[in-house]
Formats: sequence, C-alpha cells, structure tokens
Amino acid sequence: QRLGRDPGAPPLDIRGPAEVAAAVSAFNEMQERLRRYVEYRTTMIGAIAHDLRTPLTRLRFRIEAVPEDLRGKLAADIDQMEAMVAATLDFVRHAARPRKRQRLELASLVETVMDEATETGADAVVERADRAVIDGDPLALKRLVVNLVDNAVKFGSLARGRVFAQDGMAIVEIDDDGPGIAPEEVERAFEPFHRLEASRSRDTGGIGLGLAVVRAIARGHGGDVVLGALPGGGLRARVSLPLALTAALDG
Ligand SMILES: Nc1ncnc2c1ncn2[C@@H]1O[C@H](COP(=O)(O)OP(=O)(O)O)[C@@H](O)[C@H]1O
Ligand SMILES: [Mg+2]
Repeated sequence: QRLGRDPGAPPLDIRGPAEVAAAVSAFNEMQERLRRYVEYRTTMIGAIAHDLRTPLTRLRFRIEAVPEDLRGKLAADIDQMEAMVAATLDFVRHAARPRKRQRLELASLVETVMDEATETGADAVVERADRAVIDGDPLALKRLVVNLVDNAVKFGSLARGRVFAQDGMAIVEIDDDGPGIAPEEVERAFEPFHRLEASRSRDTGGIGLGLAVVRAIARGHGGDVVLGALPGGGLRARVSLPLALTAALDG
C-alpha cells in the first residue's frame, strides 16, 4: 500500500523476525528497481524529445526553399511538433523533480486554484470544501487541479469544485457545463497528445498532455481520476486520493 501511495518513499527499516526482515528487504529491493526503471524511462523520453529538436530546426531552414503555397502548411506542422517536444521536455522536467511529500489539506489547495482562475476572469467556484488531509506533493497536486480547472473553463464556461472525504479517500470533483466527453472517448482523452475531434476543430489551443499528467499524478499518489457525464450535460472529473493515515488525529 505504501508503494502505491509513494513509489519514491525511503526504504523501510529492516528489523523483526528473520522472515519479516527478509520480506522487508525484498520489498525494498523491488521498490528500488521500480524507481530506477521509471527514472530510466523518463530519461529516455527526455533524451528523445531533446534530440528531435535538431532535425526540426534543420527542417525550418530547409522549407525556405519550398514553394510559397506549401511553406505555410509545413511551417504549421513544424510548429506543432515543436510544441509537442516542448511539452514533453516540460513533463520530463516535472517528473524528474524530487518529490516532496508533505501533509496538506486539499480543500484549501482547490480554493487557491479557483481563486487564481477567478483572477484571470474565469467563472470558477468551490461549492463544497470539506477538510481532506492527505500526504502528497503540493506542486504536483496543484498542477493536477489546475489542469482540470483549465479544461473546465476552456471546454465549458465555468468550473465548479467540490472537496470531501468518502471511504478513506479524499475526493476532488471539478464539474463544467461544456459538451462533455462520450463514454467511448474517455480512455483516449487520457492519452498523451490526444485531443478529441471536436476540440481540434474548435482549436482550443491545447497540446493534449493535461489529462495524461492528471492521471500520472493521481496514480503516483495511490489514487486515480475518472471522467463522467453530468445529468444536465457537462463533464465531471473525479479525483480520489488516499486520506493521510492519521488524518483522524489531525484535528
Ligand atoms: N472538461 C472537458 N470537456 C470536454 N472535453 C474535454 C474536457 N477536458 C478534456 N477534454 C477533451 O480531452 C482532450 C484532452 O485533454 P487535455 O489532455 O487536457 O488536452 P488539451 O486541454 O491540451 O487539449 C481535450 O483536447 C478535449 O478534447
Ligand atoms: Mg487541458
């Protein structure tokens, strides 16, 4: 359970009867191997994204020789690839950052994000803010909420947030009044760089990494995120994260 909540947690103390000590040390070894594996994959993704920039830059020079009518379209394709490369490098930079776990209260985090969205002119309100204490990475969790609120105000016209606790989990719901996502499209919406047809043609200006990042962060905290339709139309993003184990003693 601990590994699920925080794969970067320090190794467990090896003590107790011999069998227990052996199991603990096997667990520590497995956690370390997993951590190295994830780190290796992240490094590889970063290296690939980084190296793609060189041929893209060359292409940008070479299209100068291409007939005018073609040049614009090629330049737009190069722009898009460069944006994807930049987003990938940004993702890797965040993933490589040492994770700081600390006790934090989700309702105030969501209120902060909503306040900041309101300051930039968005219609964003918190409808329910029950105290929900978890152990997590504050920057990553803020990013998670920001990505969902961004989508709500981008694809709809407003964001409504709710925070409460249920069955040992802290729940964060972000609702909007947009077109929603068809059930058969939901899984694809989580894929990196995947943007659903409707938003591509509306040109909402995203790059398609937001939900992939939300899911990675939620799962990295031992939780998850699901998307569902609201009865009156619109989308509900529901994030569940394990409550801190001693939250009950915490006031
Ligand atoms: N609140 C929402 N309402 C409707 N569609 C959404 C919503 N959030 C995400 N989507 C769809 O899922 C796709 C992926 O979302 P995301 O990963 O955040 O990428 P981006 O916002 O950069 O397009 C979006 O392009 C859009 O088609
Ligand atoms: Mg987005």
